[in-house]
Amino acid sequence: MQFESYPFEKLNTLLADIVPDETKEPLALTIGEPQFETPSFIQKALQDSSALLKKYPKTSGEVSTVEAMLAFNKKRFGVELKDEEIIPCFGTREVLFNFPQFLLFDIKDPVMAFTNPFYQIYEGAAIASRAKMILLNLDEQNRFKPTMSKEQMQEADLVILNFPNNPTASTLSLEELGEWVKLSLEYDFVLLNDECYSEIYTNTPPPSLLEAALHVGNKSFKNTLVINSISKRSSAPGLRSGFIAGDADILKRYMQYRTYVGCASPLPLQAASAVAWLDEEHVEASRKIYRRNFEIAKEILGTDIPEASFYIWLKVEDEIAFTKKLYQEHNVKVLPGSYLGRKDENGANPGEGYIRIALVENEIKTRKAMEAIKACLNA
Ligand SMILES: Cc1ncc(COP(=O)(O)O)c(C=O)c1O
Repeated sequence: MQFESYPFEKLNTLLADIVPDETKEPLALTIGEPQFETPSFIQKALQDSSALLKKYPKTSGEVSTVEAMLAFNKKRFGVELKDEEIIPCFGTREVLFNFPQFLLFDIKDPVMAFTNPFYQIYEGAAIASRAKMILLNLDEQNRFKPTMSKEQMQEADLVILNFPNNPTASTLSLEELGEWVKLSLEYDFVLLNDECYSEIYTNTPPPSLLEAALHVGNKSFKNTLVINSISKRSSAPGLRSGFIAGDADILKRYMQYRTYVGCASPLPLQAASAVAWLDEEHVEASRKIYRRNFEIAKEILGTDIPEASFYIWLKVEDEIAFTKKLYQEHNVKVLPGSYLGRKDENGANPGEGYIRIALVENEIKTRKAMEAIKACLNA
């Protein structure tokens, strides 16, 4: 099995021979990892439950963890899920990698479509599933919203969307998501929306695909699934808490598969994640920081403030040359967009000509980084 090397590995190689200006503070806006402390009440819940390490965790999760996730879905999206419509998981990365393998295993020539550029695990999952990949390009022409031809929809077994989107920061409305739900029923493909950034919004909370399913009358969530994660929401990527929710028929079989995968979350992590999923105050405090960072970027670079995520997808002439120059002259690291995308059948990589800037630092560092990017753009 041959996987692509990870974007951060490619970046390390790209910058390996460059000596940056070390009179300047090093700033890395590359990884989508909030650079803030995990709130203390979450850390305390983890410490208080360390005695639970003596027990094996169940694949189905603890009742209190599942209840917290159900309460989150109800409060945030108005979606009342049944117990069999949700599975807690060890962060969402493992689900994104093993769910396609589970789903596509019995299909002879499986076909998987996903947005391009993308979170690298989608491609890894397609490779591990021996699936043909259909790349749904996100570019200026389609306003970073994916489309599929009739033939592609007839062919696809699994379609992964990711809205709010990493890296382009675009969102889909309830109506647009509803159209996707209808297409998944009409053409009979499984539709999964990766909603890891749904809680990092600037003003209006973005809708969930599950809400959209109810909106178009798909009350059993047939063919419809979402994943969500605490990593960005609670500045707690180390807590490894997420869930997959939706179509109960698929999830019933997937639960059985997961007992063999053996990645149930340790009980102390589940106890801490339960309090985190139930609290909204700390998330609003984080949103304030990201909002402020977007305002700083707008003030200095003139970029639009997106509806969600903490990314700026910035157009530059040559993303590789720009990334090198920014590092050499300003000691600031960003990610070349082409590392996050792949060439489509026409040879075009929609990540070319863009850099991804992760606004995950505090206001002071964000300001410094934006000034450096501006200087580099103007040079
Ligand atoms: C789009 C997207 N999906 C999923 C993940 C995985 O998050 P986690 O495994 O922490 O839940 C990430 C992490 O960066 C991401 O950017």
